[in-house]
Amino acid sequence: PKRDWFPSDFIFGAATSAYQIEGGWNEDGKKPSTWDHFCHTFPDWIADHSNGDVAADSYHMYKEDVRLLKEIGMDSYRFSISWSRILPNGTLEGGINPYGIKYYKNLINLLVENGIEPFVTIFHWDTPQALVDKYGGFLDERIVKDYTDFAKVCFENFGDKVNNWLTFNEPQTFSSFSYGTGLCAPGRCTPGQKCANPIGNSLTEPYTVGHNLLRAHAEAVDLYNKYYKGENGRIGLAFDVMGRVPYEKSAFTDQQAEQRSWDINLGWFLEPVVRGDYPFSMRSLARERLPFFTDKEQEKLVGSYDMLGLNYYTSRFSKNIDISPNYSPVLNTDDAYASQETNGPDGNPIGPWMGNSWIYLYPEGLKDLLMIMKNKYGNPPIYITENGMGDVDHGDLPMEVALDDHKRVHYLQRHIATLKESRDLGANVQGYFAWSLLDNFEWFSGYTERYGIVYVDRNDGCKRYMKRSAKWFKEFNAAKKAAAKK
Ligand code: GCO
Repeated sequence: PKRDWFPSDFIFGAATSAYQIEGGWNEDGKKPSTWDHFCHTFPDWIADHSNGDVAADSYHMYKEDVRLLKEIGMDSYRFSISWSRILPNGTLEGGINPYGIKYYKNLINLLVENGIEPFVTIFHWDTPQALVDKYGGFLDERIVKDYTDFAKVCFENFGDKVNNWLTFNEPQTFSSFSYGTGLCAPGRCTPGQKCANPIGNSLTEPYTVGHNLLRAHAEAVDLYNKYYKGENGRIGLAFDVMGRVPYEKSAFTDQQAEQRSWDINLGWFLEPVVRGDYPFSMRSLARERLPFFTDKEQEKLVGSYDMLGLNYYTSRFSKNIDISPNYSPVLNTDDAYASQETNGPDGNPIGPWMGNSWIYLYPEGLKDLLMIMKNKYGNPPIYITENGMGDVDHGDLPMEVALDDHKRVHYLQRHIATLKESRDLGANVQGYFAWSLLDNFEWFSGYTERYGIVYVDRNDGCKRYMKRSAKWFKEFNAAKKAAAKK
């Protein structure tokens, strides 16, 4: 048998997103995104009252980022484009910012010159604030046209060098955290719930937002396929998925709860692009709160991807909540009628705790996920677009300790090993991106969690230092390249 390891066209890379690393929040014509507005207006909702004004300063230090990617031997770099840097007012009519275009062109050119494949996320959560002020952003269907215009500007300006596009990042977390729990910008939730901006309706808004997002995705893909797709062009979107395991392994009710959890966690956004509608369990449980697609929309949605991204970090136990008339959901995600348990019936978590708030080591969940993609959803080409862990740092983590990140090395190795195992079982996975290249602004956790394989010293001009994990990755990439040559 052919004992190939990772073939040469299997890509390894690292990922980031615009708001989390760029800084330069109001420079050269950029206007605020919802995240600028959220952090500035509700600093109490960010763990350390911080914001992305400077972040990892990649707006000024992108050359250093590319140098590091090259040094680590990465095949690819996944980054996102700040909408309000390109279209400061959110709309095409409001004008294109030439400095914004120039920034991304410089970055992309430098990547390509260094043999690093750009993997571009068009939208990673930073809606232009102007569009929220104008019509409520993703709550209104006018976002579909404005998003498609933004995507068009990206295809037109960067399409000659970019072959890999993701329309959206983590639609499930975006919809649920921005309009359900209110943890993310614009921070809306149902009045009475605790969040920055309790003026929304956490039971319906996430569904409305998700619906408009899916329509925007379908339109952008349609446009790309019609006018911009070159020979090697590929487009898709990246889902966030926590793996699921039944709480009581042998309890039929918990097995069903597990199924409903996968449905709302993965199927909510996956099934519309695979088969044109939301999962049946969601239709039957969320009922009238879940909108319908028109025939035309369904036609555009079905098969609207050449590849799919999966962001995988960890897994949880699913425990049944009885479907009784007295049960009243508080959040849309409660429509799964399943509680999400960190500890199993024996009181133990699913795997070793990685030391930050939510990540337990459970690579088996990645395999489960890839097998679901293979067996249930037609085995499309898959990229693991994020996988990683954070180290907690309230300003008290000595730099030497942070640099010596054994735990992260272990975490990455275990997941990459599982990836190989899943490939051998027939999973159609073609690449892997570590989250993240750099320590960065971790949304509502601010700078209290460091996810980078590269350390960023924000007390000293954002100087970058390779952690042990980056050095390990460098050796791994070299070994992979050597093996693939034979
Ligand atoms: C995403 C993720 C990242 C996070 C990472 C660690 O939106 O893709 O939320 O941006 O930083 O998941 O929590």
